[in-house]
Amino acid sequence: MPKLRDVTPTRWSPRGEAIADIPGERQPLLVWQGIVGEAGDVELGYVGKHQAFGHWVHSRGADPHRVHPPCPRYTKCGGCAWMHLDDGGQEAGRRWLVRQALDEQGLADVELGQWTPSPDGLAGFRHVVKVGFDISPKGTLRMGAWGRRTREVVPIPKCDVAAPVLQKVMASLAHHAIGMRFRPYDPHTDQGTLRAAVLRASRSTGQVIVTLVAGRRTRALQELAEILGQQCPEIAGIWLHLNADEGNAIFGRDEEGEIRTMPLAGRDTIEETLGEVTYQVGPGDFFQTNPGTAEALYARVMELLAPGPDDALVDLYCGVGGMALQAAARGAFVTGVEEIAGAVERARAAAHQNKLSARFTVGRVADVVPQLAENLAASAPLVTVNPARRGLEEGVVDHILALRPRRIAYVSCNAKALARDLVLFRERGFRIGAIDLFDMFPNTPHVETLTVLEPADAPTSTRRPPRRKVVRR
Ligand SMILES: C[S@@+](CC[C@H](N)C(=O)[O-])C[C@H]1O[C@@H](n2cnc3c(N)ncnc32)[C@H](O)[C@@H]1O
Repeated sequence: MPKLRDVTPTRWSPRGEAIADIPGERQPLLVWQGIVGEAGDVELGYVGKHQAFGHWVHSRGADPHRVHPPCPRYTKCGGCAWMHLDDGGQEAGRRWLVRQALDEQGLADVELGQWTPSPDGLAGFRHVVKVGFDISPKGTLRMGAWGRRTREVVPIPKCDVAAPVLQKVMASLAHHAIGMRFRPYDPHTDQGTLRAAVLRASRSTGQVIVTLVAGRRTRALQELAEILGQQCPEIAGIWLHLNADEGNAIFGRDEEGEIRTMPLAGRDTIEETLGEVTYQVGPGDFFQTNPGTAEALYARVMELLAPGPDDALVDLYCGVGGMALQAAARGAFVTGVEEIAGAVERARAAAHQNKLSARFTVGRVADVVPQLAENLAASAPLVTVNPARRGLEEGVVDHILALRPRRIAYVSCNAKALARDLVLFRERGFRIGAIDLFDMFPNTPHVETLTVLEPADAPTSTRRPPRRKVVRR
């Protein structure tokens, strides 16, 4: 193929490249920094058996949403694939991807609903940062993001999408880890120490919790934690997670599915407030990356389900209590289900701290929901589901149905898995509401969605929810 090609991409890839078909060529061309519908020249890169890769060079009649990516590491890092689009262009791209996922599953009649932008805009919104360590060509330790389509670490000394407090802590961590001459851990040779770090900041308090991921525990890690704690008073706690596994996962899980961490310095949780609820988040816990958008998302779920004191609500895949505690704050009789025991501990502690009444059960949704159904089906509960990227496990849709839900709010970060699950609900007679979109991950093709499902023969609550102990505020 010639190096420069004149193309007009027709569709988006899930990773954010614009895809073009080239007459006479078998492979689709994935264009980095391309825009669907915009004609221009693309420089051809690697041509594989199934896909070719290219880089946008210039446009003929630039798309009105094209902007100059503000980050100097935009192409090398690749973490913000849509930084060449303004917020309107990003919204349009995400609507395109969700529409496509629905259409592929025969759900062309399901409408897309409202769009909620990131309240913090396109910079400083990210309250979780994951960084890796490797060796630079000069032989020194390097800390940064994993590069676009590589495992090479790209230093990101000024990552504008991260909350300012995380930028500060990242800079301090890189400075001291390099200064103390740490070596990156290599699981193949079992040499070195530091592997990765996960930093989480609270939007409401500015507190930070750091989890260092290492192949082994050393005295130097303890010293690093102490120096970081002294340099950055925002750090509430520093924890260590040991992971010597081969493979790319940052965290390893034990046989109970838990991410084990051990203290190096400070506290084991930070607090985050969304709406009226203060959550507790520990190292390794799932909590939404963009708390501003999470607050808007939870508020919309509450608006659509309108839980009140006469309602039972079951929050499946509840993490540290995200939607469960919002519903409890509105007086509903709440049961949360989550497989990670530590997250449930934090959810219970937060319920106590907020003087809310809510029950939490540790276990897999597929195992726990059938038992819950025996007690709750008669109250026709409201249900919230927010599974991990893979969507609902096999059989879970039928378990949810056994609850005889009056209404289900399905929150998803993966439109393809959502669409697959929606087909199952529709086959069982559920009406699918419009899909609302939330900008949880600005500058990327990822999007959080919310839809409400109702059984065609919506059951009405025949009985008040089971009696519970009321904790007065
Ligand atoms: C996307 S997070 C949602 C958390 C929560 N709803 C929130 O808004 O913060 C998914 C959660 O489901 C949990 N999880 C994953 N698979 C599960 C399963 N089979 N049963 C119960 N919980 C599960 C994960 O540990 C994680 O906390």
